Amino acid sequence: MIKFPFFRKEHNHFPERPPGSLFSIGKEDPLFHEKFKGLRAIVEQKADLLQKKILGITSSIAGEGKTTICGQLGRSLASTGRKKVLLVDVDVRKADLTRGMGAQRVPGLTEFLQGGSTLPKIIHSTRVPNLDMITSGIEVDSPADLLAGDKFKTFLQEIKTSYDMIVLDTPPVLPVADTPTISDLTDGFLFVYRAGFTPYTMLRQALEDLGENCVLGVVINGVEVESESYYRKYYGSYYRRDPVMGKPNK
Ligand SMILES: Nc1ncnc2c1ncn2[C@@H]1O[C@H](COP(=O)(O)OP(=O)(O)OP(=O)(O)O)[C@@H](O)[C@H]1O
Ligand SMILES: [Mg+2]
Repeated sequence: MIKFPFFRKEHNHFPERPPGSLFSIGKEDPLFHEKFKGLRAIVEQKADLLQKKILGITSSIAGEGKTTICGQLGRSLASTGRKKVLLVDVDVRKADLTRGMGAQRVPGLTEFLQGGSTLPKIIHSTRVPNLDMITSGIEVDSPADLLAGDKFKTFLQEIKTSYDMIVLDTPPVLPVADTPTISDLTDGFLFVYRAGFTPYTMLRQALEDLGENCVLGVVINGVEVESESYYRKYYGSYYRRDPVMGKPNK
């Protein structure tokens, strides 16, 4: 299990994310980009070694940072040019990845699963080279039932042939059945745990419900990070507040 202390907690509570601003968090923060490069390296290594392509991002409860990490990781993986990456908004109840990317919900995943659209119509390119996305589609009454059908299985098999890495933004495990329903269909999950927010008993329960053997690693989000002077002192000249670092990482 990968334990990955994550990016800077800027406030006591996480601020709201306006539509279209998924990539704005941590933009000015060099440490944030370094952490994502570290996460990217681990994910790439595991994916190549274990021949894994379909990676789900989940957590125990809502608001732990799944969508943020899904989008940023996808961008980071795509930005090296080594991998063609597809993001899929499987959290069709909230469609936060879709909103965060500033995309239209429809046509998206639910239209495809209900037979009303085709793959080429639901794959949208993004402003990031090598990064495509599939939006959530329109909200449906029972997402878990839709995801449990054979069509979702076929969907994953088909998109697998065109991408090197597919990152799924999925709902949290405890409140709804969607993610445990598809756990066998993915190649594994990155499990996000928000430190000081989610009770440990809930983490344990969620890992049990999902099945611990499908968890490839744990990302710990919202870890308290020491002051900038701490970094200067211990990381020395490696730590610079360089405006270039604020740009999409390469
Ligand atoms: N480390 C962080 N520092 C600052 N803000 C953060 C951090 N992680 C997440 N956020 C913010 O916290 C809020 C919740 O994050 P996000 O939407 O990624 O969580 P989620 O697990 O996908 O939530 P949900 O289960 O509701 O879909 C967002 O407004 C996001 O911008
Ligand atoms: Mg989310």
